[in-house]
Amino acid sequence: MPKKLDLTDNLEKYIIDHSDDLTDVQKEILNYNLSLGDQKKLQISISQAQFLQTLIKTSNTKKVLEIGSFTGFSALSMALSLPDDGSLISLDKNVEFSKKAKSFYDKANENKITQIIKPAIESLKELENAKQKFDLVFIDADKENYINYYEKSIVLIGKNGLIIIDNVLWHGEVANNSKNDKFTNIIREFNKYIKNDNRVIKNIIPIGDGLTICIKK
Ligand SMILES: C[S@@+](CC[C@H](N)C(=O)[O-])C[C@H]1O[C@@H](n2cnc3c(N)ncnc32)[C@H](O)[C@@H]1O
Repeated sequence: MPKKLDLTDNLEKYIIDHSDDLTDVQKEILNYNLSLGDQKKLQISISQAQFLQTLIKTSNTKKVLEIGSFTGFSALSMALSLPDDGSLISLDKNVEFSKKAKSFYDKANENKITQIIKPAIESLKELENAKQKFDLVFIDADKENYINYYEKSIVLIGKNGLIIIDNVLWHGEVANNSKNDKFTNIIREFNKYIKNDNRVIKNIIPIGDGLTICIKK
């Protein structure tokens, strides 16, 4: 029994094929994103979406906040796992991406999602002023603001609330000492910040580009 596996593309495909199937609209978003060329890389991986769906189900999550929605794959995936009285607020500043995402939510008859289209930091301040609370915050927007988003998220969740952050392994480069570009260093600083934060229990999960799961104490 090996102690660790190399998550090759083949193995990732096998995992996806042997987990729950995606809905038709989820598949449609994936196909649409493929047509966007390089921008398709913005989307979370299928196995990450499946993992988020499982996590939502097992944690009894009802209220989700997403920071960075792109064309809606992660938001729709999470919303599909919420109970009927659940809700998801998605934040993105890009009008075109948000319009496209809305067309997919409508097609899926998914009415648990509310979009707020403006710089996320403004939306987060407004949600804080309105004393909104969430069970789970998913952070997947501009990396320069990760610490700001995390600090806002800590205020917006209660005890045992979840904060999940994408791209924390940055294509594996965080552990490569010869990589010292701006974004690798931003993610390294962020990971160090979370590691030293005693307000949360934390665990990095190596799926997709790496997810950190934080549970507020
Ligand atoms: C990595 S993509 C999100 C991918 C999405 N979670 C998915 O799986 O399809 C990042 C998104 O963050 C948005 N974004 C970048 N900077 C932002 C900001 N300052 N405020 C709000 N949204 C921002 C971009 O428009 C983009 O849609």
